[in-house]
Amino acid sequence: MKVHQSVLELIGHTPLLRLRTGIPEPGPQAYVKLEFLNPTGSLKDRITYHILKKALDDGTLKPGDTVIDNTSGNTGSSLGMVASVLGLKAVVTTPEKTSQEKIDLIKSYGAEVIVTPDVEDHDDPQGCFMVARRLAEEKGYYDVNQYHNQDNVEAHYLTTGPEIWDDTDGKVTHFVCGIGTGGTFSGTARFLKEKNPKIVNIAVDPVGSIFAEYIKHKKQVKGHAYQVEGIGSDVVTDALHPQLVDDVITVSDSDSFHRARLIARKEGISGGGSSGAVAFAMEKVAGKVGPESLMVGIFADAGIRYLSKCYNDNWMRKHGYLPKVEVNQ
Ligand SMILES: Cc1ncc(COP(=O)(O)O)c(C=O)c1O
Repeated sequence: MKVHQSVLELIGHTPLLRLRTGIPEPGPQAYVKLEFLNPTGSLKDRITYHILKKALDDGTLKPGDTVIDNTSGNTGSSLGMVASVLGLKAVVTTPEKTSQEKIDLIKSYGAEVIVTPDVEDHDDPQGCFMVARRLAEEKGYYDVNQYHNQDNVEAHYLTTGPEIWDDTDGKVTHFVCGIGTGGTFSGTARFLKEKNPKIVNIAVDPVGSIFAEYIKHKKQVKGHAYQVEGIGSDVVTDALHPQLVDDVITVSDSDSFHRARLIARKEGISGGGSSGAVAFAMEKVAGKVGPESLMVGIFADAGIRYLSKCYNDNWMRKHGYLPKVEVNQ
């Protein structure tokens, strides 16, 4: 019988699907890894399962304990799901900009959600990052701290990297991935580089994030607000290993959202804004490489999480990504 005893067994082993939008013919082969087929709909199921299971196995965590982290949403639902199944409690802090769909999903897995104000500064005591650290300290919660946790990187080194290598029979030449904590990129890129040092690892960063400048020039600039969720950062994270980055491509909110919408309409692949950013970057790479190349990009989560945002025309118009409609037309 091919059955499963726990939802945790369904984490990972996500498929690689051909991407055609923006890829010239003749040109490189291009595939996207559908991380939205993980149980809670994002790549974060890999890291929360790895981190919590490892802590339970080494006794740092005991059944009944409470775990906490700050999140743009996806880690929250993963933490809620994995914690519930492993007999733990989860508390997550998330900024106001997180979509209501994401907040409701986190709660649906039994996690407690603390919504904090959107803050300019990462270290603002009111912000989701500092509130999570403070509560972990004050209440003795286990701090997952994904942005600075090397087990976040290890989860992808042990799963995402090997899956891409095996599913492409070792023919992958270019890896394209958005960077939020940097864990997916760093763990996967390290594994692929160890397998074939010629593999080119390309990080994707939103316009307004500080990563690209830091990676290229080791300079910490002041970022500015942007709307694509899950990627980019206003601080340097320990989960990002810049020495593994061969190239970094910055993509605007508008290009990310429009590409995500186009691919959903043309190819039926409905990804979030960060998937649109990755696909936009893959087009840029595809224009510079030949048919002998094979690119793999990460689609981190699903469009269904953004029905009130980039897949909503009124929201797109309100934020200037679509032209206003003239009333007398
Ligand atoms: C939608 C989305 N895309 C991309 C990423 C990037 O993943 P990582 O944190 O591993 O860099 C995240 C992370 O939260 C995400 O939620």
